[in-house]
Amino acid sequence: MTKTARIIGTGSYLPERVLSNVDLEKMVDTSDDWILTRTGMKERRLAHENEHTSFMGSEAAKKAMEDAGVAAADIDMILVATLSPDYAFPSTAAIIQADLKAEKAAALDFQAACTGYVYGLSLARAYVESGLCKNVLLIASEKLSSIVDYEDRTTCVLFGDGAGASVISDEGEGLAIKHVCLGADGNQAELLIMPAGGSRHPASKDTVERRLHYLKMDGKEVFKHAVRRMEAAANQCLEEVGIKKDDISWLVPHQANIRIINALAKRFEMPDDRVFKTIHKYGNTSASSVIIALDELRKEQPIKSEEHLLLVAFGAGLTWGASVLTQT
Ligand code: ACO
Repeated sequence: MTKTARIIGTGSYLPERVLSNVDLEKMVDTSDDWILTRTGMKERRLAHENEHTSFMGSEAAKKAMEDAGVAAADIDMILVATLSPDYAFPSTAAIIQADLKAEKAAALDFQAACTGYVYGLSLARAYVESGLCKNVLLIASEKLSSIVDYEDRTTCVLFGDGAGASVISDEGEGLAIKHVCLGADGNQAELLIMPAGGSRHPASKDTVERRLHYLKMDGKEVFKHAVRRMEAAANQCLEEVGIKKDDISWLVPHQANIRIINALAKRFEMPDDRVFKTIHKYGNTSASSVIIALDELRKEQPIKSEEHLLLVAFGAGLTWGASVLTQT
């Protein structure tokens, strides 16, 4: 019998500590006005020392499992999208598996930067629809404050911490994963990168002194690619599913910059009140941004049967992706 992978529960975790634009004014040469007009961000969340990536991921996962009515013992696979794991190894997914006592679950981290959750939908769907897994826990969790340089005003104002999670299963009502379109262009890898700490430039006194363990970004270049790639992925996804822009109830984009979101919405002729945004309060939470937004959307706006959502994301790699979800 054909199986359909559906998101049957979602949850998110945002640290309580708030880092406002006014706080940032005291740390670097910036202003509330610059940040708000250039990015749409007013504040973002900042994890405490003991709020690790795995902790936030576990907390979001517990809420998603409760929402889905699925126990940890019934999870077959834990997938974690993150570029800020607890350790280089073991995986953050394995730490979460122990924390949740999800004893029969396998555990795997993967990395597609800000496109992580959308890439993860394709993995979860494949596991469920092939029959390899019944219940997949797809988590995105980022403690970006651990790799952001709070002396670099061009990046430190943009990022925040947080996690989102979803249970994907072939049983129960939810958002069917109709289609996922993915892409990458590794020729642009240097546009957004954490240069040291991997096998090319292992940690050394020199890499620390040159501040190479922090995220570096050519924001202007990334901006241009972001709009073009997200629009193309979204159009491809709609075409391959066979639906039109008008058929979409909600656009749920990666929350990187309000100007990117608005440019995308304009090209999609999507009215502002059908574009879901969290950027003003959470900033860019990388892989977590789309699932945090989707979780808030589901809690705020009941999604009716047969309504379509369009998720779209873009990030380091470069990577990009879009997905059509349909409530069934
Ligand atoms: N406060 C005040 N001034 C600043 C700040 C700041 N925080 N940051 C930069 N500036 C200055 C610059 O130094 C520059 O000054 P100059 O003209 O004297 O040189 C001026 O503001 C303009 O800088 P730009 O970089 O041209 O500003 P821009 O309008 O491009 O906005 C931004 C920068 C917000 C980073 C934008 O380019 C952007 O959002 N890019 C995309 C980021 C993105 O999408 N990332 C997604 C992937 S994230 C991931 O995968 C982890």
